[in-house]
Amino acid sequence: MSDVTLRPMRGDIIAADDSAAADIVAVSAIEHAIPSGLSTRPLPPAEYAKELTTNPQAWFVLAEAEGAVVAFAWLQMFYDEAHVMNIVTHPAWQGRGVGWQLMQALLAEARRRQAICLTLEVRAGNVPAQRLYAKCGLQVVGRRKRYYRDNSEDALIMTLGLG
Ligand SMILES: CC(C)(COP(=O)(O)OP(=O)(O)OC[C@H]1O[C@@H](n2cnc3c(N)ncnc32)[C@H](O)[C@@H]1OP(=O)(O)O)[C@@H](O)C(=O)NCCC(=O)NCCS
Repeated sequence: MSDVTLRPMRGDIIAADDSAAADIVAVSAIEHAIPSGLSTRPLPPAEYAKELTTNPQAWFVLAEAEGAVVAFAWLQMFYDEAHVMNIVTHPAWQGRGVGWQLMQALLAEARRRQAICLTLEVRAGNVPAQRLYAKCGLQVVGRRKRYYRDNSEDALIMTLGLG
């Protein structure tokens, strides 16, 4: 497993500190390094800034290694359910245990927020992500037909009860 450090994405200091903007730039760069049709669409930097500064139900965690951000994940609370909005590891760092560590951090944060479950949508063809989620205990509980607008791919709904 790779030696990475996890930390929350900076946001509360966005107006005062360039490090917040640096986090957003780093996350955007990772998103754009992923081939389209695998993850969700990259979020414009301004939308990250808005989420970070105005949405207390959102939580972003970064993984750093060798002085750079190499992965990130985004948790969103909907009432008492925690939803994984996105999780992405830079291609150069995939397959080294970073995604698993991020998922553990999301699960811990979801429990801290007293979520009854952790749930997400994943492309039906995205086997690496499905295996990661299964390894973390999530199970397929449903399917949303033609959920992804870019290629009309179905989404599998995966969830893990936390009660
Ligand atoms: C899905 C993703 C986040 C996994 O991150 P990662 O850092 O590579 O994951 P890890 O190295 O921690 O792997 C954890 C588990 O995931 C599964 N996995 C990861 N990569 C895999 C691959 N290429 N093929 C099959 N299973 C894979 C395995 O079960 C692995 O456990 P193992 O090493 O014991 O076999 C990464 O592949 C990624 O960023 N993909 C593109 C973006 C994306 O699809 N995000 C998910 C949106 S729903």
